[in-house]
Amino acid sequence: MERVVLITGASSGIGKETAKLFQAKNWKVAATMRSPENAEDLKRIADIECFRLDVTDPASIRDSVSSVIDKFGRLDAVVNNAGYGLIGPFEAASEEQIRRQFETNVFGLMAVCREVIPILRNQKRGVIVNVSSISGLAALPFSSLYAASKFAVEGFSESLAYELEPFGIRVKIIEPGPIKTDFYSRSEEIAKDENLHVYNERFEKLLEFMNKGGEAAPDGSVVAEAIWNAVTDNSHRLRYGVNTKGMPALKRLMPEFVFRALTRKIFLK
Ligand SMILES: NC(=O)c1ccc[n+]([C@@H]2O[C@H](COP(=O)([O-])OP(=O)(O)OC[C@H]3O[C@@H](n4cnc5c(N)ncnc54)[C@H](OP(=O)(O)O)[C@@H]3O)[C@@H](O)[C@H]2O)c1
Repeated sequence: MERVVLITGASSGIGKETAKLFQAKNWKVAATMRSPENAEDLKRIADIECFRLDVTDPASIRDSVSSVIDKFGRLDAVVNNAGYGLIGPFEAASEEQIRRQFETNVFGLMAVCREVIPILRNQKRGVIVNVSSISGLAALPFSSLYAASKFAVEGFSESLAYELEPFGIRVKIIEPGPIKTDFYSRSEEIAKDENLHVYNERFEKLLEFMNKGGEAAPDGSVVAEAIWNAVTDNSHRLRYGVNTKGMPALKRLMPEFVFRALTRKIFLK
């Protein structure tokens, strides 16, 4: 039987690699994105259909989920991948920037879940994969808003997993460390305030370290593989780390003051 996956934010990076991997595994792929008119390369691939979906626009979520059901008749997996990172001193972020970070990374992801859960529940099967981040487990300096959004994704997903289990729906969390995608360029929004130069020195060090880490990192295909495992391993495992450099284990095992000293040393040295 042919399986169907819907992916958000499939225009680039992890989402695009995930679309290509599922297609290669003979799934039908609904690659959703804000601007499908620019997805010439994906559109040329058989079994990948592009749909317009902006996670901050509820009508676009409704329309594209219903088009996917009309087209394929079912939905086996949903990958909530769309997201971006707002970084910088918390004080420098505007109200609008703070709200937009949550509208996309948190409320957008929840809105997609609200649309697809009834479908999966009626089918009595399905997998929801939520792309969090290592920042959903350990907050790095100058990432307060991005980390808060991913901590929210973690708590939401952990609870939802229990709730949906009796209906044959598995909820999975993917926690990538640095991955070389557009995340460190066009998806990196920097909160700036010219009056707040007191943060500059430490923030610039962190930014340089982070962007260098992104440049040297593996590409989105390693996360696509983890998403594939999460969807197909038939387990109730909740979390899947990718290129985390041991950070989750260190945070779990080290006394907090040691872990925090290490974080300071690595990221603000
Ligand atoms: N790269 C990393 O190091 C890393 C690490 C941990 C977690 N992650 C997470 O991985 C996910 C994918 O990021 P990526 O690394 O693949 O970066 P990316 O290549 O920049 O992809 C981000 C995707 O999110 C989409 N997006 C942003 N706002 C959206 C909205 N309102 N509605 C629909 N789509 C929207 C973008 O669409 P447009 O093309 O329209 O802008 C793009 O397709 C994000 O959730 C990110 O937080 C990334």
